Amino acid sequence: MSAEGQRGQQAADASKIAPAKGKLGVMVVGLGAVATTMIAGVEAVRRGLAKPIGSLTQMGTIRLGKRTDNKSPLIKDFVPLADLNDVVFTGWDIFEDNVYESAAHAQVLDKETLAQLKPYLETIKPLPAVFDQYYVKRLHGTHVKTGKNKKDLANQLIADIQAFKKTVDRVVMIWCGSTEIFMEPAAVHQSIEAFEKGLETDDIGIPPSQIYAYAALSEGVPFANGAPNLTVDIPALIELSKKNAAPICGKDFKTGQTFMKTVLAPAFKARMLGVSGWFSTNILGNRDGEVLDEPQSFKTKEESKLGSLDYIFQPELYPDLYKNIYHKIRINYYPPRGDEKEAWDNIDIFGWLGYPMQIKVNFLCRDSILAAPIALDLVLFLDLAKRTPSLRSIGIQEWLSFYLKSPQTAAGLYPEHDLFIQSMKLKNTLRHIMGADLITHLGLEYYD
Ligand SMILES: NC(=O)c1ccc[n+]([C@@H]2O[C@H](COP(=O)([O-])OP(=O)(O)OC[C@H]3O[C@@H](n4cnc5c(N)ncnc54)[C@H](O)[C@@H]3O)[C@@H](O)[C@H]2O)c1
Repeated sequence: MSAEGQRGQQAADASKIAPAKGKLGVMVVGLGAVATTMIAGVEAVRRGLAKPIGSLTQMGTIRLGKRTDNKSPLIKDFVPLADLNDVVFTGWDIFEDNVYESAAHAQVLDKETLAQLKPYLETIKPLPAVFDQYYVKRLHGTHVKTGKNKKDLANQLIADIQAFKKTVDRVVMIWCGSTEIFMEPAAVHQSIEAFEKGLETDDIGIPPSQIYAYAALSEGVPFANGAPNLTVDIPALIELSKKNAAPICGKDFKTGQTFMKTVLAPAFKARMLGVSGWFSTNILGNRDGEVLDEPQSFKTKEESKLGSLDYIFQPELYPDLYKNIYHKIRINYYPPRGDEKEAWDNIDIFGWLGYPMQIKVNFLCRDSILAAPIALDLVLFLDLAKRTPSLRSIGIQEWLSFYLKSPQTAAGLYPEHDLFIQSMKLKNTLRHIMGADLITHLGLEYYD
């Protein structure tokens, strides 16, 4: 097809994106620190109490056309996203605390802000969760569903979704629950049939996060995963996502240390600077830190955090620079710091003729303050994908890798971890679905 023809086709696709009319229901699995900070934050923004800082969907712009065109609308004015005033929250948790109580316990937002939002936050009470301590050793859930097998539990979640659907126009689900133990794909994950049989026989290979994801995808509901759990990264759920036009994306919010890594590592590679070691350590005192103090949950997180450097550095292409990197990651549970994580990175690099140098990064961050806008953006973009004809049935939305430590890709494709390539991919996807020209950054036309 000619370029002209392609643009015409894209413009026609854009006109077919269903408008974001009515209420968007957001079902959050796990109403802990990240979830309550997102929900309270959305309400604070709706009331004009604060700005949605860190959210690309709310504050970001997108350049259209040439640099000389001076056309950079807000992303939310360019693509039809749900308005924050139309977002309605509900969720599940293994504890009975309402969102106000849980937010107060998490101690991320100050008492004054929470007091202002209390009447609203108190109205959001968790539904009983699907939980099994085998998969998260450090937690003892009290507000949980019981059923004759995992299929029965999935059906109870489906009933929750169907009941919520009656009150809103569209639904998206996001996992903000704890990190489960490390699991690898097994036979039960290979097809929808095997998975459904496994639900009936209580297969040990199916953790709660997969039961929620199965329920969502069965109902045509997009699913995002904020934790590093295996969850939808299996053939059965990828197949279900495509079959029911329920978009999915990668996993594990890219917030602090990995965010910095995927900014710095591409810079070293771009300049052909070598790296011999990268030591990352963290202290963290919230409930997430407590769960990650348990070796099997830590292993899940470690795997997710380790991947990025290897993919960015491509040691097979640059053996002289990156073949012998010693990469180590530590997470230490340290209660006094609560949600205010401190991360240190020591990076041993080398330059011209192999001379060594060091870089130290000390990030004093706030975990949930960084994660909340990511959770919000994922929800809003997945809802957009569900309304977009060219995206809704492709399953994995690779363009959302920008937000995730472990991007998900089609089989055989390596994941793209470089934050700036991810950002370009995201924005070009938005241009593409709206029928606008892609931006290649070639720029020779300015010198004709
Ligand atoms: N904050 C960040 O920067 C960040 C970054 C990347 C990933 N994450 C991940 O996001 C998740 C949430 O983080 P958090 O700081 O809010 O943790 P948190 O411990 O405060 O909240 C998790 C909540 O999930 C609930 N839960 C656990 N299992 C559940 C189940 N099966 N069903 C329903 N609820 C369940 C817990 O009771 C808890 O309330 C964690 O897995 C964490 O690793 C967080």
